[in-house]
Amino acid sequence: MMNRIENVRGDSPSSRDHLYRTGNGEGGDTSAKENLMPVEVGLADLEKDTKVVAEIFSQPSVIEHLAGVAPKGTERNISGFRRNILKYMSKDSGIDDERLKELGKTIFQATKEEIREYYKNSTSSELYVAKINGEVVGTITLEKPTGSGMLWAGVSKMAVSQEARGKGVATKLLRTLIDRMSQLGFQGATAGIIRGVEGDSIPLHLFEEEGFESRGTLKKICLGWSKIEGKFIYRDSIRMEWRAPQPQKPLGKSG
Ligand SMILES: CC(C)(COP(=O)(O)OP(=O)(O)OC[C@H]1O[C@@H](n2cnc3c(N)ncnc32)[C@H](O)[C@@H]1OP(=O)(O)O)[C@@H](O)C(=O)NCCC(=O)NCCS
Repeated sequence: MMNRIENVRGDSPSSRDHLYRTGNGEGGDTSAKENLMPVEVGLADLEKDTKVVAEIFSQPSVIEHLAGVAPKGTERNISGFRRNILKYMSKDSGIDDERLKELGKTIFQATKEEIREYYKNSTSSELYVAKINGEVVGTITLEKPTGSGMLWAGVSKMAVSQEARGKGVATKLLRTLIDRMSQLGFQGATAGIIRGVEGDSIPLHLFEEEGFESRGTLKKICLGWSKIEGKFIYRDSIRMEWRAPQPQKPLGKSG
């Protein structure tokens, strides 16, 4: 079910990005026909929404952030991307066939069927989408470790479609996850921002605005073997941390 969110940032109605401005795309005097559309964030409908989520994941600007290293010349075409990824994560990397299959399913979630199956079968991941006018424009995943003593969650796979960027969509997605983590009683959460990708644009500010703090950079994480470049690819990753407000009293104690 989708929670209707009228104000993306939760601040003044005049905030530039609490609504997404969209034209009718038919030319002419579009400014007069522009509508202000609310952004809605909620759990994904795995039957309907995964097609667009797959498209968002496969945008060239997203792949490397979310799934490791994108092969050069990656196309938006999903099946082409799948083939490229398998080529990219080749046997030369020392990863055996079974591991390769596993990586293909759980990390490089390229097809809508794979995304659907992954989240359907997962008790520890929740897929959220942001919609504008009923169209999926962004996504984020809550990683919920299960079992007693598992107090920290993970924020992953945050991405917004190219056309909808800069309107506060990711901010709204992140806020929804923070509310959910608080509701579930998590004490904190981590997220990683991969550095060194093309353009190297780091959404640090986005996380910081929502209460995350940088805990330093994990150096040279090996993301895999690039068959195309003929070498292992290493990237740095900035570790971001969010901590829930401390409880005033110990839980379960009456006084
Ligand atoms: C990062 C991403 C999710 C941001 O989505 P978005 O909806 O455009 O973000 P918002 O509009 O909520 O931006 C909020 C703030 O963060 C800043 N910001 C957003 N993306 C940024 C980026 N890549 N680099 C630097 N700053 C960024 C915005 O300028 C904005 O700042 P402001 O409030 O001062 O204007 C989107 O650009 C994307 O999908 N990028 C590729 C995948 C990716 O990098 N995912 C994150 C992995 S950690």
